[in-house]
Amino acid sequence: MREAIIRGTPDRDDNGPERGGPSPDAARAELPVDPDEKLRPQRLQEIVGQRGVAERLAISLEAARKRGEPLPHILFDGPPGLGKTTFATVLHNELGVELNITSGAALDKKMDVMPYLTNAAEGSILFIDEIHRLPSAVEEFIYPVMEDFRVDVVLGEGMSARTINLPLKKFTIIGATTRSGMLSAPLRERFGIHEHLEFYDTDDLAMIITTNAAKLRATIVQEAAWELAARSRGTPRIANARLRWVRDYSLARADGHISLSVARDALDMQEVDAEGLDRQDRRYLETLIRVFNGGPTGVEALSATMSVAVDTLKDEVEPYLLRREYVVRTPRGRQATAAAYLHLGLPAPPPVQEEFPLFDPQRRLFE
Ligand SMILES: Nc1ncnc2c1ncn2[C@@H]1O[C@H](COP(=O)(O)OP(=O)(O)OP(=O)(O)O)[C@@H](O)[C@H]1O
Ligand SMILES: [Mg+2]
Repeated sequence: MREAIIRGTPDRDDNGPERGGPSPDAARAELPVDPDEKLRPQRLQEIVGQRGVAERLAISLEAARKRGEPLPHILFDGPPGLGKTTFATVLHNELGVELNITSGAALDKKMDVMPYLTNAAEGSILFIDEIHRLPSAVEEFIYPVMEDFRVDVVLGEGMSARTINLPLKKFTIIGATTRSGMLSAPLRERFGIHEHLEFYDTDDLAMIITTNAAKLRATIVQEAAWELAARSRGTPRIANARLRWVRDYSLARADGHISLSVARDALDMQEVDAEGLDRQDRRYLETLIRVFNGGPTGVEALSATMSVAVDTLKDEVEPYLLRREYVVRTPRGRQATAAAYLHLGLPAPPPVQEEFPLFDPQRRLFE
């Protein structure tokens, strides 16, 4: 029988009191309730898109089953909402093992992570979201866990200090991060599998929308699913949120059926444009173009002008704008491309000032 997902409470069970050890209450507080939980694929075959990743994981799963060993440690990276948590959930379901979930932000000290390690059952999965937020002392503490399934605990202080090695059960750590660049190299290298999740193409998103419309008991025409997919920033979580909105709109303003015109009207009302950019995306481009003359400028300057956190810009806004080539990153900062001007209906950007003119009259002297 499959174990239920335990959210950040390895030392507590449903019926009984705490079993001792520090309880990672912070983990519970940190983890937001996901409104998408109902729509999340549960098995590998329900996963849409990310074909390479899904195929490679299917092989690792089969090998783990045949060897009777836990999966290798896995690191998922990629922008928010592309399926990192979904893949972890699916792997836990496929193997029928226990899953414990925590977040790098909740693991401040070695003692915060300890209960997750000592309570991990053989073959279980420990999912560490936002793993880039682990402090380096905690990172170093889990190196021997990942390599040899042991923790080294120092007892006492000074001259009388001694280290005891505590053996652990063999289990799998799955890390998720939107910033793999912030992970230290030693931590990154300790993951046997490293998968990068990419934005989804419109076909895949349309399929996700059609499936999820059925789960939400909404009827949607193919064209409307496509329209929604094309306007969802290549991101299943955004597609799901927009689907819910369109469904509500269709109930309030129409007969509950999602036609193409209902989908368009609903998305227009939410100020999602034809390319799927929302108000915040357009504000980013407008600020870059109008205030900073198209750039290049640093993300900190954009953040200050827009009054939006740097992390939000880096994690949520920029990846898709970069992917669509509305923005490029240069050594001197972010720069809007001609496509961004065109998208906002602004006159073309001024010609780029060459720092080193291509034509050098002096060259003639030597030719
Ligand atoms: N491959 C997929 N097929 C179908 N639905 C998906 C897929 N990937 C993600 N989803 C849907 O998108 C939602 C968001 O995905 P998920 O929570 O896994 O993203 P995430 O990468 O963990 O994001 P974050 O970085 O914010 O934690 C899921 O609840 C699920 O409904
Ligand atoms: Mg997640």
